[in-house]
Amino acid sequence: RRVVVLISGNGSNLQALIDAQQHDQLGGEIVAVISNQPDAYGLKRARDAGIDAVALPHREYESRDAFDGALIKVIERHEPDLVVLAGFMRFLTPRFVQRFLGRMINIHPSLLPDYQGLQTHARALADGVSEHGCSVHFVTEELDGGPVALQAVVAVAENDTEATLKAKVQAREHLIMPIAVKWCLEGRLRFGPKGVTFDGTPL
Ligand code: GRF
Repeated sequence: RRVVVLISGNGSNLQALIDAQQHDQLGGEIVAVISNQPDAYGLKRARDAGIDAVALPHREYESRDAFDGALIKVIERHEPDLVVLAGFMRFLTPRFVQRFLGRMINIHPSLLPDYQGLQTHARALADGVSEHGCSVHFVTEELDGGPVALQAVVAVAENDTEATLKAKVQAREHLIMPIAVKWCLEGRLRFGPKGVTFDGTPL
């Protein structure tokens, strides 16, 4: 089973996937890593692991649609069973989302549907919530609005700062991301006409 990972930055979630693969815990192979930021550190992580690393700078395309068209081509060349957005910081066009619907997941640093969008940790702290966390969800046209597949909860401590909370949440991201990928590749976790199901049970 083949996985293509899209990133924009550090790629610590990508690293968690690479580590899982190297321990035969991913249920498939990462066949390419694509970044819209040519200097993303995650591209180096991919190269170091012997994975095809592709820089596709969005600035070189005249429109969002042209960029997404090019991105679709590069992804499809690798014939993925699953597309994983791991810190990919671009809005996607409906055409792109439709093309990979049910085969594309994203990791988001909040307990969705709470705190969609950016600055999730700062907003959670400002609200004084006692629990925060991260979610893997299937990607639909609504940004951070697709159905949730897997979540991890983190207790917010009184002395947590944005940085400490982010670190705690990221540690959980690195746990749930490889599990979600494995379950998707095994066909246990699916998103179809009946919504998200796990081993046949609607979530
Ligand atoms: C993660 O916090 C993820 O939830 C968000 O972007 C960040 C990416 O981090 N979507 P990394 O590049 O995987 O280190």
